[in-house]
Amino acid sequence: MPHSPEPEIDWDSLHAQAVAISERAYVPYSGYPVGAAALVEDGRIVVGCNVENASYGLTLCAECGLVSALHAGGGGRLVAFLCVNAAADLIMPCGRCRQLLYEAGGPTLLLRTPEGVRTILEVLPQPFGPHDLTANQAREGALQ
Ligand code: THU
Repeated sequence: MPHSPEPEIDWDSLHAQAVAISERAYVPYSGYPVGAAALVEDGRIVVGCNVENASYGLTLCAECGLVSALHAGGGGRLVAFLCVNAAADLIMPCGRCRQLLYEAGGPTLLLRTPEGVRTILEVLPQPFGPHDLTANQAREGALQ
C-alpha cells in the first residue's frame, strides 16, 4: 500500500475544536476546564475534555479522552496536538499526558505550545516507550 502523505495541519481549526470541547468538561472540583484536539495521520480530528470525580485522584485529563476517542474511532497515529484552558489559552499537557501522547503519536508528534510548535521529544526528552519493552524482551530471549 502506498504511504499516504502527512495531512496539512490547520492549527486554528484544532484550536477552535479544543475550545468547543472544553465547554463539555466535567470539572465540579477544580473549576478548570481543559479541551484538547489533535489531527490523526488519516486526516481525522479527535477531541477530549477533562472529567473529574469525587474521588479526586481518578480525574481523567482531557488527553485521556482524546486518546480514547482515537482508538474508539479506528486508531491511527496522532500528527498534531494542542490543548487549551477556559480562557482559550494554549496550555502544556501534564507530564503523564505527554507520555500518553508519545505512545499515540510517536517521536514526530507536533504540539502547539505557549512557546510555539515543539516536537513531543522536546517536551518529553528521553521517553520511556514501546522500544524499551521490546529491548527487554530481546534480552530475555537471548538469556533463554
Ligand atoms: N488537566 C487536563 O485535563 N490536562 C492536563 O494536561 C493538565 C490538567 C485537568 C485535570 C484537572 O481536571 C484540571 O485540569 C486541573 O488540574
